[in-house]
Amino acid sequence: MQTDSTQAAANERIELALGDITSEHVDAIVNAANSGLRGGGGVDGAIHRAGGPEIMAQCREIGYCAPGEAVITGAGRLPARFVIHAVGPVWKGGGADEELLLASCHERALELAREHGCRTVAFPAVSTGAYGYPPELAAPVALAATIEALKRLPRIEKVRFVFVDEGLLDTYERALARLRTHAQ
Ligand code: APR
Repeated sequence: MQTDSTQAAANERIELALGDITSEHVDAIVNAANSGLRGGGGVDGAIHRAGGPEIMAQCREIGYCAPGEAVITGAGRLPARFVIHAVGPVWKGGGADEELLLASCHERALELAREHGCRTVAFPAVSTGAYGYPPELAAPVALAATIEALKRLPRIEKVRFVFVDEGLLDTYERALARLRTHAQ
């Protein structure tokens, strides 16, 4: 059984911030990718633009990633060492395993980070853009999955969630505060 101190330690390793994830100086940044790893708009477009063609070349070699899973490539010109391409679910109203898939892509991303020796990781708000997941529903799922994974992965020291707008930051801050209250 997990102790309360383990829970608190996992909570405290999460930071929320405003910014552009491509500028993050962490070991790995997470991309909100599609299954074909073909690139796109949103955070995916920003990462490939800033990181250069090397990332897409590696994505083509990998070829596919199922929803709820994640794959890893180098980070090209980005300050991070790795890009972890996580495929979140497309929001279909909540009855198509969206919660499960959103949680598992966070867990898989963190497991991959650990397998590659990463101690710091940055996530965007996966699925909340083009994939339409309502942020107020995505936030508690993403954060709770991250806390659970961090309990199992003590060598990951810090996970930063990075948002482009203050509304999203506020939504995730409120969800994290509720999770922290429940953990006490
Ligand atoms: N840094 C941090 N967050 C960003 C950035 C950035 N540079 N750019 C966009 N975002 C935020 C968006 O505001 C949104 O809240 O990332 C969140 C996720 O949105 P999307 O990038 O649209 O990702 P998602 O909803 O998971 O949809 C994935 O979109 O771009 C395509 O190829 C991608 O097909 C895939 C789909």
